[in-house]
Amino acid sequence: MSTLLVKNARLRHHAEVMDVYSVDGEIVEIAPRVDAPADEVIDAGGHLVSPPFVEPHIHLDSVLAAGQPRYNESGTLFEGIQIWGERKGSLTYEDVQTRALEALKLMATHGVLYVRTHVDVTEPRLIALDALLDLRERVKDWMTLQVVAFPQDGFYSRPENDGLVETAVKRGCDAVGGIPHYELTREDGVRSVQRAFDLADQYGALIDIHCDEVDDDQSRFLEVIVAEAIKRGNGPRVSASHTTAFGSYNDSYAYKLMGFLRRTSINFIANPLINITLQGRTDTYPKRRGLTRIKELWQNGQNVSVGQDCIHDPWYIFGTGSLIGVAYMTVHVSQMTGLKEIDACYDMVTGNSGHALQIADYGLKVGNPANLVVLPVINTFEALRHQVTPTHVISRGRVIARNTPGVRSFTGG
Ligand code: FE2
Repeated sequence: MSTLLVKNARLRHHAEVMDVYSVDGEIVEIAPRVDAPADEVIDAGGHLVSPPFVEPHIHLDSVLAAGQPRYNESGTLFEGIQIWGERKGSLTYEDVQTRALEALKLMATHGVLYVRTHVDVTEPRLIALDALLDLRERVKDWMTLQVVAFPQDGFYSRPENDGLVETAVKRGCDAVGGIPHYELTREDGVRSVQRAFDLADQYGALIDIHCDEVDDDQSRFLEVIVAEAIKRGNGPRVSASHTTAFGSYNDSYAYKLMGFLRRTSINFIANPLINITLQGRTDTYPKRRGLTRIKELWQNGQNVSVGQDCIHDPWYIFGTGSLIGVAYMTVHVSQMTGLKEIDACYDMVTGNSGHALQIADYGLKVGNPANLVVLPVINTFEALRHQVTPTHVISRGRVIARNTPGVRSFTGG
């Protein structure tokens, strides 16, 4: 039996500090004082103890591959897709797994213990798919990984792609993806969304579609996703990723769409770090931000989460693995600077992402896995203001990362 006691933990929405006790990786007691013996005791000292961060959207097959074979000089989505097209022919199983594992370890040090990755399944050997499905198994003791079958080049741009997506789902992907705005025609885009829903129904998978990741105000596949979710009644199992064109829709259309959204409960996943740099590239001035309506969707009661999308790859050259950094960027780009709004941005990298991934046992609750992070601050506002790194990351009741907060000393004056 292994036991862990985290003392003096400041939990969100609790006035007094609490002790959190876990046995064999499961939380068994949360109380103002727990006196049970423990193999390891961590004194949080009144600091914030939070459920771990949840990465709802990343591409692990392309992480840490920036510059291979060349850098994206235009900074556009489409040059990124071109470069990836050149790179993916030389992928090997080891290459993908090594880079992906390095990224997962990096994220774990930042307190990320749940990750949803997309994997490009239009590469006919499906090497990256196999590498990531095996990696899901390899890391399962410390990281929960979901894999989305993502047709980067579209379902219908080549005759074999549709079959490749189905093969990928059959091999055990957690979710079916799509990219309707990149299909050759509007009609193909509509049909690709319906096909993704059909595959998900057939194989019991979730749905997460790259949707309207363009600045074109006529890119309207979100309405197709919403219509399918309303008709099939499966909204909570559906995620619309990016939806950047929503930021360019006219207000009258956006108002109508918001009404339809209230009839379903689909999840929105925005990726502000990358989309603030990728989008708006063909604008002169005013230059659009190229982000979905994060704040308005949140105000409309939609489940909104935010992710990294990329770490040092053909689409985005930076990336640290930190979701606190993503939440910090969200506050800026969506102008959510009120205190409640900042707290909501923290939700977007924790509970809201957990909901999008349909993780039933997420959160600091008796009976749930002992997954938690200790942050060297007293609340979510300070966590974002200082963009902190957790001092302890605990997965299944084991400490898997310890970090020393950066030390800065003013010695003059
Ligand atoms: Fe993406």
